[in-house]
Amino acid sequence: MILKMILPSERQSRWPWVFEKTEVFVLSDDVFRLLRDLIRDYSGMYFDDNARYLLEKRLTARLGINNINNYRDYYRYLLYDKKREDELAAIMDVLTVNETYFFREKNQLLSFSEELLPELRQRNRNSRKIKIWSAGCSTGEEPYTIGMLILESNLFNGWDIEILGSDINRRVLQAARKGIYRQNSFRSIERYYVNKYFDPLPGGSFKILDKVKKLLNFGYLNLLDAVKMGFLGRIDMIFCRNALIYFDMPSRKKVVEGFYSVLPEGGYLLLGHAESLINMSTAFALKHLKHDLVYQKPEYSSQRMTSCRKR
Ligand SMILES: C[S@@+](CC[C@H](N)C(=O)[O-])C[C@H]1O[C@@H](n2cnc3c(N)ncnc32)[C@H](O)[C@@H]1O
Repeated sequence: MILKMILPSERQSRWPWVFEKTEVFVLSDDVFRLLRDLIRDYSGMYFDDNARYLLEKRLTARLGINNINNYRDYYRYLLYDKKREDELAAIMDVLTVNETYFFREKNQLLSFSEELLPELRQRNRNSRKIKIWSAGCSTGEEPYTIGMLILESNLFNGWDIEILGSDINRRVLQAARKGIYRQNSFRSIERYYVNKYFDPLPGGSFKILDKVKKLLNFGYLNLLDAVKMGFLGRIDMIFCRNALIYFDMPSRKKVVEGFYSVLPEGGYLLLGHAESLINMSTAFALKHLKHDLVYQKPEYSSQRMTSCRKR
């Protein structure tokens, strides 16, 4: 048992707060393994043996909410109950790591602005249309950064621009749609962009301007859902940064294969700095740009490559 502080808003009381006993359910080793495999199969995220306590702590409230009093029954619920999909989505809201901020990994963004965007303009000059996907976008700082850089480039005036932001966590998607940010999201952005693309709000937060917001669409998408990925249509470039590091290798491979199938020949995949396609049999080619390394679907995909060089 632990003590949980209950604030007055949660419970009518004349005291400023009261203490109430809250059950913490014990997650045994065997049920932990069943549960983490189920979570991996559903989302790709892999929790190693050291994460047993973390899962126990994060999921304990879910048992209470569902009136279940042990983890074995909760596991069965996740397998067989007709509400299992809803519950798995609720688990994603509490288990995913959502750390992000504007202008994260600046070298890659320099390559994006200086090299990839001009190339994209040239490549799509007939259709005058671009579609960029931020896969695992969290609260939206990454796709809004992409939007600001596209506007700043002045290369696509009058073009049909679409930036998709997707995530498996419904809570972060709600925040992304609002587009209101506090100081922590601005740790790496130049003042110039804050002044040009945000409205200050009372209380110290900032709201992204509509001229950026209207370029974006946010949606729920599990990266392991190849069918839904197929419905995204043709994507010119994919940012998938700092999401696959939490996946096990087979799930990473599966996601990267999905990316390959939605990109056209010559399309780019941009991963986070801590991520690479090393040890993955993949058809992507590693491309050295001035400021960073990116992956590209070869122009002639019949010349399939079986492995990628080291980053
Ligand atoms: C650490 S954040 C990275 C955000 C942003 N891409 C960045 O680099 O700043 C990783 C995001 O990936 C999402 N994610 C994890 N597993 C996912 C899955 N299977 N499908 C879609 N999104 C997933 C998480 O919810 C989280 O918001």
